[in-house]
Amino acid sequence: MSDSVVHVALFPSAGIGHLNPFLRFAALLVQRHCQVTLITPLPTVSLAESELISRFCSAFPQVNQIQFHLLPVDDATVNSTDPFWLRFEAIRRSAHLLSPLLASLSPPLSAVVSDISLFSSLVPITDSLCLATYILTPSSSKMFSFFSYFPNLLASRKSIPPLLCVPNSLFENIFKEDSPKITKLNGVLLNTFEVAEAQTLEALNGVKVVKGLPPVFSLGPFVPCEFEGRDQLGAILTKWLDDQPAGSVVYVGFGSRTALTRNQIREIGDGLMKSGHKFFWVVKDKLVDRDDEEGLDEVLGHELMESMKKQGLVVKTFVDQAAILGHKAVGGFVSHCGWNSVMEAAYHGVPILAWPLHGDQMINAEVVETIGLGMWVRSWGWVGETVVKGAQIEEAIKEMMGNESLRLKAAELKEAGRKAIGIGGSSEVTLNRLIDEWKKKNRST
Ligand SMILES: *[C@@H]1O[C@H](CO)[C@@H](O)[C@H](O)[C@H]1NC(C)=O
Repeated sequence: MSDSVVHVALFPSAGIGHLNPFLRFAALLVQRHCQVTLITPLPTVSLAESELISRFCSAFPQVNQIQFHLLPVDDATVNSTDPFWLRFEAIRRSAHLLSPLLASLSPPLSAVVSDISLFSSLVPITDSLCLATYILTPSSSKMFSFFSYFPNLLASRKSIPPLLCVPNSLFENIFKEDSPKITKLNGVLLNTFEVAEAQTLEALNGVKVVKGLPPVFSLGPFVPCEFEGRDQLGAILTKWLDDQPAGSVVYVGFGSRTALTRNQIREIGDGLMKSGHKFFWVVKDKLVDRDDEEGLDEVLGHELMESMKKQGLVVKTFVDQAAILGHKAVGGFVSHCGWNSVMEAAYHGVPILAWPLHGDQMINAEVVETIGLGMWVRSWGWVGETVVKGAQIEEAIKEMMGNESLRLKAAELKEAGRKAIGIGGSSEVTLNRLIDEWKKKNRST
C-alpha cells in the first residue's frame, strides 16, 4: 500500500537564501501529496531563519521536522570567519549523525534532497542506505554550470566569485572537493525555468558542460508562500504602498546576507533622494541580525533620515520581500541578484537594477541582463571595491525606472514564469516527472 507514498527528506543549509527555496519546494511537494521530512540543523545562525522555520512548521503540521543538533566545531580548524560558512562546515562535519535518523524514517524514504553545499558529506551515508540523492541549488543554472565545470576552469573571468580565488579558503575547498562528486547524484533541482535560462539548461541536460552530469530539473519560479508573511511591518508598509501610484516605487533590498558600509549606505540614501522617485529601502549594516542593535538614525544620520521622510520608507528589519515585489506600486528593484530575489522579481515582473555584491551574484546578474529582466552597471564591481557615489546611483535608478523596454520585458517574463508553473507548463511537467521517478524508486526497492 505504502509503495506509492513518496517520502522525501529535505536537508537545507545555513542562511535564508539556502533555506527559502527548500521551504517553497516543500510546499510544492505537500500540495502533491508527498510526505516531507525537513531536517533543520540547529541552532540557526540568524533569527530570521529560526522564525521562518517555525512559521513553516505551523503552516504545514503534516511535515515531519528532524531537529538536527550539530557537533561543536573548533573555529580554528575552519579557514573562514563568516558565521554562515562556519555553519556550512559544522553541518558537513555532523552529517554522519544523520545515518540512523534517515534509516529509521517511515514510510521509507524515496529520496533525499540536500543543499548543494552539503551533498558530498551526505552521499556516503545515502549510498550506504541505498537512497537516491538529489541536490536543490539556491542559485541559477548558470551558477550550477560554473560549479560543475569548476575543476576544468583554467582561465579566470571577471565574474568568478572572489572567494574562489583565495587558495585554500573554505569555499574554494568545497568547490574543489565537491564539484567532481556531482556525478554521484541522481539529479539536480533548480529554481529556474526554461524561458529564463534556456541555453544553460539545454547545455546541462545535453551533457555539454561536463560528462556524466546527472539530469537537471528546472522547477521554478518557486511561488512565494503565505507562511513567509510577517505581520509586524504589514500594516504600515501596505498602507504606504497602497497610497503610491502603480509602478512608481523603487524597492531597494540587498538580501539577508550582506552588510554594507556606512559610507555606501549613505551614498545609496543620497542617490535615492536625488532620483526623485518614491522608495522603500531595507537597510542592512550587520551580517547577522542577532547582532543588530543600532537604530536607523545612527546608521543613516539624523539629517538624512529626516529628509527622506517625504519621499520614502526605510526599515532595518527582515521583510516579506516577495509580497513587496508583488505590490502594484513597486516598479523597480535595486537588487544584489541573490537568485531567490531574481526569481521573485521575475515571478512578479519587476525590472531589476543589478548590483551584485559577492558570491554567485555576478553570474546571476549576467542572466538578468541577458534575459532582459534588468540592467547592470558592471563598473560598480564587487562590494567594497569602490564606494559607488550617490550621483551614479541616481542615474542608474532613473534609467531603470524610465526604461519602457525593460518594463515590457519584465512583464513578458512574468507571463512566461507563470506559464512554466501552470498546468502543462515546463516546470510543472518536470516536477511531475520527478515525482513519478520517485514513485518508481519506491516500487523497485
Ligand atoms: C533600456 O534597457 C535596455 C536593456 O538594458 C537597453 O538595451 C536600452 O538601451 C535601454 N533604453 C534606453 C532608452 O535607455
